[in-house]
Amino acid sequence: MHKRVRKAVFPVAGLGTRILPATKAVPKEMLTVVDKPLIHYAIEEAKAAGIDEFYFVTGRAKSAIEDYFDVGFELEATLRERGKADLLDEMHSWLPTAGEIAYTRQQRPLGLGHAVWCARHLVGDEPFAVIPVDDLMVCEPPCLKQMVDVYAETGGNVVAVVEVPRQETRRYGVLDIVADDGRLARAKGVVEKPDPADAPSTLTIIGRYIIQPEIFARLEETTPGSGGEIQLTDGLAALIADGQAFHGLRAAGRRFDCGDKLGFLEANIALGLSHPELGDGLRRLLQSYL
Ligand code: G1P
Repeated sequence: MHKRVRKAVFPVAGLGTRILPATKAVPKEMLTVVDKPLIHYAIEEAKAAGIDEFYFVTGRAKSAIEDYFDVGFELEATLRERGKADLLDEMHSWLPTAGEIAYTRQQRPLGLGHAVWCARHLVGDEPFAVIPVDDLMVCEPPCLKQMVDVYAETGGNVVAVVEVPRQETRRYGVLDIVADDGRLARAKGVVEKPDPADAPSTLTIIGRYIIQPEIFARLEETTPGSGGEIQLTDGLAALIADGQAFHGLRAAGRRFDCGDKLGFLEANIALGLSHPELGDGLRRLLQSYL
């Protein structure tokens, strides 16, 4: 039996420079896809995978995230006064209970590996998930749930992966594969943002991870890598070198890179079209533009 994954870390300190000016005064995690902020989708996915403790690694100018998950007394009183019980109930259905969420700060932008390391005292000595919120995964079952199910079999570390054109490997962590059944790949190494010519494969990590707690000690020793940042991928490579299992799952579903303007627009269109109340109207609108 592998230890259950109960905790998730959400690295939300990033500045969102690829989608400026939208993110100048609003955290990118609070940008809405259709009718919910990105952070809402991430929490829903984590809950569906059995996560019950949520840790945010945040930064300056990100307080809107904390407010979003807090009780809004003024809003609630107004809704109650106006007899909008349905809206109130809907909000209470997803609001985390007190103590389920905790926040810590990444004081300097030193990379994804450093952000995860900042949560070491909150996570302690157990496996945990990492969910970068701008990778919006639309999967059934939800992506992290698919990964948790695989982890129950394999143990070790599990990441979500996709195949990319070789010229794009310099944007991702890339797996060095030893076995691959077309759905699940086992890796003997992982490299952050290699040049296409040096990439060990074209199977790349997207933003979902299940990681063993030994990563914290490894990240402590990790020196700045690609882009001068402490890379999570380098910490994972150290775990593989220590003999830990490492698998990449091609999750069934779709990924939207919402840290990118076009990816963000695509997510809004795709989720809008499949929205039960808005889909038909949006389809008609889009047709009138094309
Ligand atoms: C990060 C990781 C990279 C991963 C990517 C997925 O890179 O470092 O290994 O493939 O996320 O989105 P970033 O996009 O933050 O540069």
